[in-house]
Amino acid sequence: MTDMPTTLPASTLLTLTNIESAYGPVKAIRGVSLEVRKGQIVTLLGSNGAGKTTLLKTISGIMEPVRGSIEFAQEDITARESSDIVRKGISHVPEGREVFPLLTVYENLMMGAYTRSDRDAVARDLAQAYRYFPILKEREQQAAGLLSGGQQQMLAIARALLADPQMILMDEPSLGLSPKLTKEIFDIIRMINRDSGRSILLVEQNARIALQTADFGYIMENGRIVMQDTCERLMEKDDIQEFYLGIKQEGVRAERRWKKKKTWR
Ligand SMILES: Nc1ncnc2c1ncn2[C@@H]1O[C@H](COP(=O)(O)OP(=O)(O)OP(=O)(O)O)[C@@H](O)[C@H]1O
Ligand SMILES: [Mg+2]
Repeated sequence: MTDMPTTLPASTLLTLTNIESAYGPVKAIRGVSLEVRKGQIVTLLGSNGAGKTTLLKTISGIMEPVRGSIEFAQEDITARESSDIVRKGISHVPEGREVFPLLTVYENLMMGAYTRSDRDAVARDLAQAYRYFPILKEREQQAAGLLSGGQQQMLAIARALLADPQMILMDEPSLGLSPKLTKEIFDIIRMINRDSGRSILLVEQNARIALQTADFGYIMENGRIVMQDTCERLMEKDDIQEFYLGIKQEGVRAERRWKKKKTWR
């Protein structure tokens, strides 16, 4: 026997260190450090205005952080151009999908591949995206604006895949979708992660499905991380059950706490 561990820990893909981001005088991110490992799904939960979208925008280069650093695949990508960050391997599925409504489904998908010149590989990734979302193949030549909300979400995810990312940032994929469609989308999110080992940083209002899907979770409030743990352990915590999963604890103490301001343990 040696002292070597039997399994090596998965290596880190994305590391945020003390990130601060602001909209002019409004500080939205107040010192966030987090980590996503290769092949992991990590979820970021928090109430409205907590700073989740701002954090994803800061990672993908849409916003420049005021302080702190972002490292991806052993390289400092802090404040790089968005297109550089896409090329490096991070795709962003933005909040509210943001597909190009007047372009066809196919043209939207090709926009996802704009940083690439490897045409054969793009064709292969397009075929794979159509396997995940057959409806997009059927609607290939239709304007994206004519798709339903769920189909537009599928298109936004498929477009992100066309960049052949190592990591996908997803901002509220279930927004506005029925429970049935949400389940379908999440089944495919799991598949995308499993099939190709792409890491996913998942922002989601539906805490239950996010915690069931992800390996690790961060809870964000007022621009800060207030809790972090494996999803298994997070789901057991009273605060998470009360505030995110809507499970009320038995007894008077819980009733009182429900009415009080959030406190984190
Ligand atoms: N374009 C903007 N200009 C000024 N302030 C903004 C802007 N966008 C967001 N903010 C502010 O930054 C903070 C964080 O917002 P952000 O959109 O990142 O939150 P969020 O966690 O994604 O919320 P939600 O769950 O509603 O999507 C909020 O206080 C918000 O009001
Ligand atoms: Mg948001």
